[in-house]
Amino acid sequence: MTTPAPRTRARVPVGVDTTRPSIARVYDYSLGGKDNYDADRAAYEQILQVAPRQGDVSRMNRRWLHRVVRYLAGPAAVDQFLDIGAGLPTVANTHEVAQQDRPEARVVYVDNDPVCNAHGRVLLEQNDHTFFVAGDLLEDGTLLSNRSVMQYFDHDRPIAVIVCGLLHHIEDELNPAAVMREYVDQMPPGSYLAISHFWDPADEDPELHTRARQAERAFVEMGLGSGWFRTREQIREFFGGLALIPPAPLEPPGLVELDDWWPMGPWPLTRCWEQRLMLGGVAYKPDPAHEPVPLRARRG
Ligand SMILES: C[S@@+](CC[C@H](N)C(=O)[O-])C[C@H]1O[C@@H](n2cnc3c(N)ncnc32)[C@H](O)[C@@H]1O
Repeated sequence: MTTPAPRTRARVPVGVDTTRPSIARVYDYSLGGKDNYDADRAAYEQILQVAPRQGDVSRMNRRWLHRVVRYLAGPAAVDQFLDIGAGLPTVANTHEVAQQDRPEARVVYVDNDPVCNAHGRVLLEQNDHTFFVAGDLLEDGTLLSNRSVMQYFDHDRPIAVIVCGLLHHIEDELNPAAVMREYVDQMPPGSYLAISHFWDPADEDPELHTRARQAERAFVEMGLGSGWFRTREQIREFFGGLALIPPAPLEPPGLVELDDWWPMGPWPLTRCWEQRLMLGGVAYKPDPAHEPVPLRARRG
């Protein structure tokens, strides 16, 4: 029997209180953005004491998001995107990438941080196909039954649900796996789910596991108050039983380090340990009316 999602929901975000660090503003600072305050910068500096190349991780996460959206809007032919935990507007936002391939693609951004909502409305609602809604991943019934969100989508057609860099900020007590199962149940057939998440390699790599534990302490105790590193199995659970698509040619379906997911060219020669502590994957919800996507990539 599956555990039902808890009805108590997430912490209230820091919001407009500029004396406390907020996830969105710290992330913005890590990307070189300007929408942050002393408290955010101080928290990030604490994280850098332990993980000096964390900025490379944020940039890698954005690169991954761009490749995923390009794939979904291109070969996967998705034209509806729900980007949950969108963050502060930055360079190359989801709609800009999706609409390069598919100008009519609809993108709904959601964030629970009021600062993101204010900036998002101004900077992300750039054309008739992009929208910003204040909302919470953890809200009862999920965002897929929230009318403010779903008014922009055709419920009967596939939706790409993007949860990039968010779930590691949700504590275990809120049972994020059960929450994500609800999303998967409600996604229309033919939909995709894309997730990136901080990774604790555990037994897969004991040395990196120690780094992950140190980095987690820096995020949770010294920096932001959240940022949990989970194992491959725990992250896999967030896909609610859906099959993942292959992460690279001739690779079996699965979760991989972000720069290994369909890289744009030859693999980078060097990768810092901080960058190795994040996994990502994309899963597909089968549509009986269509051909299945190949679950093992192959030539020809
Ligand atoms: C690290 S940022 C990631 C931004 C963007 N998705 C990316 O990966 O580049 C995480 C974002 O998730 C938002 N967030 C955190 N908890 C959330 C929740 N329960 N519901 C919606 N958004 C949330 C934060 O406000 C923040 O903007």
